[in-house]
Amino acid sequence: MAKSIRKAVFPVAGLGTRFLPATKASPKEMLPVVDKPLIQYAVEEAVEAGVEVMVFVTGRNKTAISNHFDTAYELESELESRGKDKMLEVVRSIVPSHVSCVFIRQSMPLGLGHAVLCAEPVVGNEPFAVILADDLIHNSSKGCLSQMVEAFSTTGCSILGTEVIDPQETGSYGIVDTNGSEQLAEVKGIVEKPHPDEAPSNRAVVGRYILTGDIFHHLAQTGKGAGGEIQLTDGIARLMQEQGVMAYAFQGTRYDCGSKLGYLMATVDYALYHEELADEFKDWLRRRFIS
Ligand code: UTP
Repeated sequence: MAKSIRKAVFPVAGLGTRFLPATKASPKEMLPVVDKPLIQYAVEEAVEAGVEVMVFVTGRNKTAISNHFDTAYELESELESRGKDKMLEVVRSIVPSHVSCVFIRQSMPLGLGHAVLCAEPVVGNEPFAVILADDLIHNSSKGCLSQMVEAFSTTGCSILGTEVIDPQETGSYGIVDTNGSEQLAEVKGIVEKPHPDEAPSNRAVVGRYILTGDIFHHLAQTGKGAGGEIQLTDGIARLMQEQGVMAYAFQGTRYDCGSKLGYLMATVDYALYHEELADEFKDWLRRRFIS
């Protein structure tokens, strides 16, 4: 029987250059969408999918993320003494008690593939998830990773979260070539950031992966690829020569919060989903655009 997924890796060591200067002293994964940082949405998605060990691969600005998931005694006692019980509960429930957080340093931002490889000492040889927090995925029922864990439990092989994109945008993604266009389809080939004329399809890999532990061995042998970085896509291409890899078209809406436009779209939509803000914000939007 296929194993469940106990560990998730969050690569958060990128430079986030598209968001400078906001990301000069703080990782982009700490950018808030309404009232939660991107990384917290990602951790909540992993918790919902049954993950118990969160492995953060951090870079030079690691303290903001480790502080966010650590206990804040002074803040808690201040909230307690002021009787702010609701906020105290919000702060205390950031990480459920059965979940542990591990921090690993990627000393140089050599690429996503290298960041994932840095997690090997904690993950070991078991299947694990990778979540890129800047791809924020909203689904009103089951989260994206839960859907993928369900698919993994039937196949037992590596699974890549995919989305059909505008064919002109293939140069920004890893693109898969699949056997058929089903929701869960076998991957025949994968290529990082191909020019639209050379792309095998417009089915793009987005920031959700379930990978077998064998990926580490392949990443260790992967050299620099597109953009001079060690690419996870290239490691997956090597893995495919040895074992099956599937593409999974998840249900939900993805916001590319690594780009300013995607981040703004997420902010508007999440404000409209927010139970305390939705009505007033909707009224304000109406007044703003119908006047
Ligand atoms: P991006 O390609 O979005 O790069 O990384 P970036 O540096 O974060 O942002 P820009 O393009 O300069 O604005 C995709 C994911 O991989 C992580 C990032 O933190 C992000 O979650 N990453 C990337 C690492 O952890 N280490 C790396 O060396 C590169």
